[in-house]
Amino acid sequence: MPNTKARVLIVDDDTNLLESMRRQFSARHEVLTAQSGPEALELMASSPPFKVVISDFKMAGMDGIHFLSRTAELYPDTVRILLTGFANLENAVQAVNQGFIYRFLSKPCSPETLDQALADALRQHGLVEAQRENYSLKRFKTLLEGIVLGFSALVEARDPYLAGHQTRVTALSLAMARELGFGPDDMDILRIAALLHDIGKVYVPADFLNRPGILRDEEFSVIKMHPEVGYDILKNLGEDWPVATIIRQHHERMDGSGYPQGLAGDDIDKGARVIAVADVVDAMCSHRPYRPSLGIDVALAEIEKGRGVLYDSRAADSCLRLFREKGFQFPLAVGNF
Ligand SMILES: [Fe+2]
Ligand SMILES: [Fe+2]
Repeated sequence: MPNTKARVLIVDDDTNLLESMRRQFSARHEVLTAQSGPEALELMASSPPFKVVISDFKMAGMDGIHFLSRTAELYPDTVRILLTGFANLENAVQAVNQGFIYRFLSKPCSPETLDQALADALRQHGLVEAQRENYSLKRFKTLLEGIVLGFSALVEARDPYLAGHQTRVTALSLAMARELGFGPDDMDILRIAALLHDIGKVYVPADFLNRPGILRDEEFSVIKMHPEVGYDILKNLGEDWPVATIIRQHHERMDGSGYPQGLAGDDIDKGARVIAVADVVDAMCSHRPYRPSLGIDVALAEIEKGRGVLYDSRAADSCLRLFREKGFQFPLAVGNF
């Protein structure tokens, strides 16, 4: 079992007091001690970070405020408590106000007061840690967002007929998923999968993509590999993020007539069932090398006709509702959803 005890450092030049505090806390915490500021700083430099440091004020060489202000500079996440006699009250108040110290306790201090202060300090440390994690997560999300949009633009740059397609499919897919009650995690996954659903087309020769006229069978069979290629590109994201699976399944159809695996019904991921509908609508509304746009009415008629056979009934219904009753329109530019 991992060591879950919190690391606490106590600094005091009174060895008796140091020993009694160590005894008091060591059953529940990993307690280390030092008899001076410099000794404590040395210990902190050579060991994993402490969650809480409790320091006496009056120590020879370096006083408690000096030591804790140094600790604040070097280890800002470590919560700092000062133990001080009444005579040093003014200094202690100043130190608290300057932010070096989370709390000060006046000596002599009862075990209960010390216990409570340590518990509060550990809670404070937990808050600081959570805040930092939250900040890191936000930065990571921004980074991921940039990478996903970059890759999305990359695949579209090779094919003028694909320009903006993945963005529009994403906007419609998310609007449908919202209607269908997808949770926040599923929405995040769907968004990334939709933005990258045709990423496998990077392996299709540009000539096949841009050439006017109907494709030959062998050319079409190369294009049909793109869901599988997309899966291969993204499968390392892991099972918690079924982005790759959704991409692999976005051309599957409810009756098993799709590709590449010929999956049917509930064997198709619900995100893939949503993207499949959005993908068909946008493809039919867009110009293609071999035909002009068919228009939204024809696209919606196709979804209505294939409802429950080719396309998931609920996904199809939400798409029809969005366009016919809720005034949904495709965004004109990336980021408009
Ligand atoms: Fe596709
Ligand atoms: Fe597509």
